Amino acid sequence: MAKALVIGGTGTLGSAVTARLKQHGLDVVTAGRASGDVQVDMTDTASISALFEQVKDLDHVVIAAGSTHYDAVPDLTPENNLKSVNNKLLGQVNTVLLGQHKLNDNGSFTLVSGILKEHPIARGASSSMVNGAIDAFVGAAAFELPRGIRLNSVSAGLLSESAEKYADYFKGFNPVPAERVANYFVRSVLGIETGKVYKIYE
Ligand SMILES: NC(=O)c1ccc[n+]([C@@H]2O[C@H](COP(=O)([O-])OP(=O)(O)OC[C@H]3O[C@@H](n4cnc5c(N)ncnc54)[C@H](OP(=O)(O)O)[C@@H]3O)[C@@H](O)[C@H]2O)c1
Repeated sequence: MAKALVIGGTGTLGSAVTARLKQHGLDVVTAGRASGDVQVDMTDTASISALFEQVKDLDHVVIAAGSTHYDAVPDLTPENNLKSVNNKLLGQVNTVLLGQHKLNDNGSFTLVSGILKEHPIARGASSSMVNGAIDAFVGAAAFELPRGIRLNSVSAGLLSESAEKYADYFKGFNPVPAERVANYFVRSVLGIETGKVYKIYE
């Protein structure tokens, strides 16, 4: 049975991804800072390395975690912008850099980006920047990963499950159910594509 690690596997998106992967017969280990089967803080490279020592014989790593800072550009400071970089961007990139040497042959990484790269909202510039960087990294790094390991990202619109919470930010956006987004993660994990950004929004 193939084994998958889902970082953020207890979250809104990650729990839907975890359920889907289990439906497809994968052995799924969930990870979070405080929640999940095992603990990791992906903003800390030592913590990521420790995770790969703890969870062995991994075929797939899925990330459904990462936060960004929201502020209008006139209020956005370098320090706050760096929070987005260190969290959602480098948390995921460093997981790939460290994990590439630990995954089984022909394994995969699936990262999460988001709609704001293409459709900006007020106060979302830092998030747009990070989402664009994640997708750009995926498009280039996938070609150099060793031993048949694949790398894709899932760029989702606002989730239906989060629509109420973020209603003030995403006026006029059509939400997408987490279950539908989760199926693209399954496609990335169990398919043959690499270097791909799956866009799930209108
Ligand atoms: N919600 C949406 O509408 C939406 C749409 C498009 C894209 N996304 C993206 O999808 C990702 C997940 O969003 P979500 O709404 O599902 O978030 P969420 O419900 O807040 O869940 C976040 C998950 O990630 C874990 N986590 C947070 N920080 C972590 C860290 N530093 N290291 C390891 N695990 C960490 C959390 O567990 P612990 O608290 O235990 O760490 C939790 O399991 C984010 O990158 C977000 O930008 C979300």
